[in-house]
Amino acid sequence: MLEVTGLRVAYGGIQAVRGITFHVNQGEMVTLIGANGAGKTSTLKALARLLNAAGGSVRYCGKEISTLPPHELVSEGIALVPEGRGVFPRMSIVENLLMGAYSRRDKEAINADSERVFSLFPRLKERSQQLAGTLSGGEQQMLAIGRALMSRPKLLLLDEPSMGLAPLMVQKIFEVIRSVADAGMTVLLVEQNAKLALEVSQRGYVMESGEITLTDESTKLLANPKVREAYLGE
Ligand SMILES: Nc1ncnc2c1ncn2[C@@H]1O[C@H](COP(=O)(O)OP(=O)(O)OP(=O)(O)O)[C@@H](O)[C@H]1O
Ligand SMILES: [Mg+2]
Repeated sequence: MLEVTGLRVAYGGIQAVRGITFHVNQGEMVTLIGANGAGKTSTLKALARLLNAAGGSVRYCGKEISTLPPHELVSEGIALVPEGRGVFPRMSIVENLLMGAYSRRDKEAINADSERVFSLFPRLKERSQQLAGTLSGGEQQMLAIGRALMSRPKLLLLDEPSMGLAPLMVQKIFEVIRSVADAGMTVLLVEQNAKLALEVSQRGYVMESGEITLTDESTKLLANPKVREAYLGE
């Protein structure tokens, strides 16, 4: 579904992503793990076209998308849940969700989809008129995921959904991510919490200083001594 070849991202003279190659099959959940500054967010931003790649190709469902404008990616079925959530703080939960469906005109289906988001995250329903800026970090993460789902994506890109959240909240959010994936959505998950990410995904890539240094099935990465030492604190 997604085929990335030789992707490069640079900020001025600094190379953040140095020609990485990876793929995600339809229906798979794949994770990209790595330390701070490894280039994970830069990779996702380049995929979502929030920044221009310095080189390489990104094919999605057989089509080159590395030069499309970001809003066209949404229509193609790609949604990004950004690092730090990026909810609109002065809009209510409902309004934030509707922003996620801005490219759609099918009002009834949009309503049905917001009900679906509310059934995934009952906490959002209870607070549907509350301003997003007043939500807790975990609630904002739920909202960011809900908003992404409102575009009916085929490929969901998640940037560190567990960041800054208490274990119980992380568990809740990952249950939803898992259920969305089980329902057939393709997911590319970026995480610093390598253990969690490898436990929920099928395959993983390890990123270090802008390069992919290791890839395998997630269960094998979990058992890999190098991964255990560097990323699982063992
Ligand atoms: N806007 C920017 N301008 C200059 N350098 C940047 C910019 N954004 C990122 N970088 C640099 O690019 C490198 C990769 O950053 P990136 O945010 O992609 O890492 P990351 O793997 O997502 O890290 P983290 O786990 O901390 O989120 C870092 O060295 C960072 O300082
Ligand atoms: Mg990041």
